[in-house]
Formats: sequence, C-alpha cells, structure tokens
Amino acid sequence: MPDATDSGREQEIRVVGAGALRHGESIPFTFVAAGETFEGFVLRYDEGPVDTLVAYRNWCPHVGTDLDMGSRRFYSRNVGRIYCHTHGAQFQVITGECDFGPCVGLHLERYAVRAVGADALVTVPAGDSAATHDPENPPEPAD
Ligand code: FES
Repeated sequence: MPDATDSGREQEIRVVGAGALRHGESIPFTFVAAGETFEGFVLRYDEGPVDTLVAYRNWCPHVGTDLDMGSRRFYSRNVGRIYCHTHGAQFQVITGECDFGPCVGLHLERYAVRAVGADALVTVPAGDSAATHDPENPPEPAD
C-alpha cells in the first residue's frame, strides 16, 4: 500500500521504486478517493532528448475499461505509445492524447509526478474531485 497525504482535493501517493524505472517500464498503484478505489501507473519514457516520468489513471476513455486488462503492461515499444489492450487505442506518452484507435482526440487522465530518489510522488484527486474528470476537456499536462 503506498503512502498517501491528503489535502482535501488532492493527495500525494508515494510509488516505491518508480524513480528507478527504465524506458518503457511501469509500476501500477492504487488510491482511494470519495470512497472509491482507483488504479494508476507510473511510466518512464526516455527517448531522444526526453527522459521523464509520466503518471496516468489505468482507465481507457473509449469505454472505461482498464488499459492493461490486468497484464500490468501499458507501453508498446513497437509503436512508442501507451496502448489499450481492449480495442487497441494508442496514446501519446507525454500528452495522453489518443492518436490511433476508436477514441482519437480523447485523453487519458494524467497525474502530476516527480521522482524523489528511487521513488516517485504522484498527485491524484481526493474526495469528490475524483469524480469530475472529463476526458474531452482534460487538464493541461504539467511540464
Ligand atoms: S476500451 Fe480502450 S480502446 Fe476500447
């Protein structure tokens, strides 16, 4: 169970080991908001000049299934995208925007994340704010 601090609208989740991920590797995590359990994942993307961690909810904006269907695999090296195992939607790693498949133009729910030593801290919704995500009007990605 990850550590969590809760400020009311947001909470910070520590994902142990995520700061040491290599390109394409990911670690799933869970959090509770408004009495519901949600799952997300942290992924390292290290391609060309970009070396960063990203974090998203494990939820496809097409019909709302888990992206990984329990496989714990979120990234395809073949296409350089996060992908959905249900109908094959592909999402840009940095923006979370679907650019191939049945939900082109929709976005994954992105969370701010930062490495802290060998771990990562992910800022996720808390309380009722967890239920307000609109995939057609996603928050701007953090730098
Ligand atoms: S549920 Fe993800 S592509 Fe259909």
